[in-house]
Amino acid sequence: IKTSVIIPAAGQGTRMNAPINKQYLTLRGKPILSYTLDVFERCSLIDEIILVINKNEFKICRQQVLAPHNYSKIKLVEGGSTRQKSVYEGLKKVSPQTDIVLVHDGARPLIKEDIIVQSIYETIQHKATIVAVPAKNTIKVVEKDGFVEYTPNRDFLFEIQTPQTFTYDLLLDAHEKAIQEEVEGTDDAFLVERMCVPVKIVRGHYNNIKITTPEDLIIAESLIDLFSGEH
Ligand code: CTP
Ligand code: MG
Repeated sequence: IKTSVIIPAAGQGTRMNAPINKQYLTLRGKPILSYTLDVFERCSLIDEIILVINKNEFKICRQQVLAPHNYSKIKLVEGGSTRQKSVYEGLKKVSPQTDIVLVHDGARPLIKEDIIVQSIYETIQHKATIVAVPAKNTIKVVEKDGFVEYTPNRDFLFEIQTPQTFTYDLLLDAHEKAIQEEVEGTDDAFLVERMCVPVKIVRGHYNNIKITTPEDLIIAESLIDLFSGEH
């Protein structure tokens, strides 16, 4: 079985409010994107890493992220104007032998190998899996006028993370159908759900945060310190 991971890292990081794309900010001196790449580079079940970056960031990526490390699995691809477009650009460059594709946000540097391995195993069985954790907070659906419309039962609510993992043909079909029908989703599973294919939950860790706003940098550094004390 051949496995590729697509890492979308071509966003603007607008909510981070930093002068550079958040993925090139450092945590304890190392770029966020390097943490993410290191985990997949080291994971023996991953054959290929398709790193999707902004067209203006090839230089910074090569200098700050690729040059200081010895990556052997990475192929660089230019991204698009939305996450979905960036993933699709990556999908087009995946090696033709690929059976299973994982999609993992460049901005989730704290992913652990055990979750990647479990995602691959479960996808061999179920064709579509997404990593998730039970919602900790009560979530309400709010109308545009600022009043609560209803409160879904929290027992059925999960926060969805990445990786999201699919058989290659299924993910490609889902993206092509979405393009034809002019649908944009915030994650890949949404596109697969639209094809009426069941998507299985893989239980993840709360630590696998997406670096989005400035306080996430503080949380991530604390978690990195915690992990580095574990061995
Ligand atoms: N992404 C991408 N191409 C885009 C938009 C997003 O590859 N056109 C990537 C981001 O780089 C990130 C991941 O998708 O790793 C998740 O997106 P998000 O956290 O929303 O990142 P940004 O879009 O960069 O941030 P913001 O929404 O705050 O601008
Ligand atoms: Mg975004």
